[in-house]
Amino acid sequence: MNKTLSITVTKSQRSKLSETDFDTLAFGHIISDHMFVAEYVDGEWGNMRVEPYGPLEINPANATLHYGQSVFEGLKAYRNEAGEILVFRGDANQRRLNESAFRMCIPEVPEEVFMEGMRKLLEVDREWVPKNPGYSLYIRPFVFADDDYLGIRPSRKYKFIILASPVGKYYAKPVAVKVETQFSRAVEGGTGAAKAAGNYAGSLFPAQKAQDEGYDQLLWTDGKTHQYIEESGTMNVMFVLDGVLVTAPTTTGTILKGITRDSVLTLARDMGVSVEERFLSVAELEEALISGRLEEAFGTGTAATVAFIRLINIHGKDYLLPEKPADAFSNRVLKSLDDIKYGKVPDTYGWIRKY
Ligand code: COI
Repeated sequence: MNKTLSITVTKSQRSKLSETDFDTLAFGHIISDHMFVAEYVDGEWGNMRVEPYGPLEINPANATLHYGQSVFEGLKAYRNEAGEILVFRGDANQRRLNESAFRMCIPEVPEEVFMEGMRKLLEVDREWVPKNPGYSLYIRPFVFADDDYLGIRPSRKYKFIILASPVGKYYAKPVAVKVETQFSRAVEGGTGAAKAAGNYAGSLFPAQKAQDEGYDQLLWTDGKTHQYIEESGTMNVMFVLDGVLVTAPTTTGTILKGITRDSVLTLARDMGVSVEERFLSVAELEEALISGRLEEAFGTGTAATVAFIRLINIHGKDYLLPEKPADAFSNRVLKSLDDIKYGKVPDTYGWIRKY
């Protein structure tokens, strides 16, 4: 690791800013003008640079293409009314990236490489942080194996890249989800808690099947018995049952330790809401839908923020969720989170770093 972090900057010849419509941003289609790149060679991260976003040269024998040794993160930068850039919980994302990396035999990305790389990228692409309320700049750090080698072993070379993408909502409206009891996303001892590329690849086929049937996402159940709800494809999932906020614990190694999940639980406790981190069975969920005990269900994630669930399919039966009052917990917690992220209220949690 270089002691003095030197990051070179090469500016793009042509900015895409003027051709980007910041009023109609969806999720993930547009990437800003630049990216941060660092390379891991001979046991050290170096050759750090911000350069124009563009294609990488990858050899066909690149280990990631074959074996998927790759992990990623997602965090967001917001603009406050004074025009300052606020990044939400980047330190937590940096730690989680390295937890994922550890599980996938990827070398740690030092905190200063992550933080300085992101700072430099935000400095160069500052104008890409949307000014419109409700929008943000999604930051996508990722690390991947860069060896050209067809044998199986951890790679010796890696690239760490940070992209930035101005985004609107991931889900434009409340979602319909289907409880998945055939396929598994994760099993104990597997890689479910890591934000590993392969976890998402494996989920595509069952998710596509559900989408073909008209659902937006799956609710994954545990890989062993398929009796307990774990998480959704792009987010953790939470339920309000008899006024109690219930979500699966992250102790089994099968569920992503969501940073939005943690933020929502923290805010809930501070709002005086009872929180239970426990596995909710599919049977209890179905009973609660029938009896009316289930008041709210929603997903939490960086991309999705708080995504309201309007319908749950269980064993082929569609259950509509009840209408929510305006002061429902999910509405209140979404507002509290947004107020902190956009700097409308003081951040008493130490979650925001200004750029
Ligand atoms: C995020 O919320 O940052 C995610 O990783 C979800 C993503 C797969 C769209």
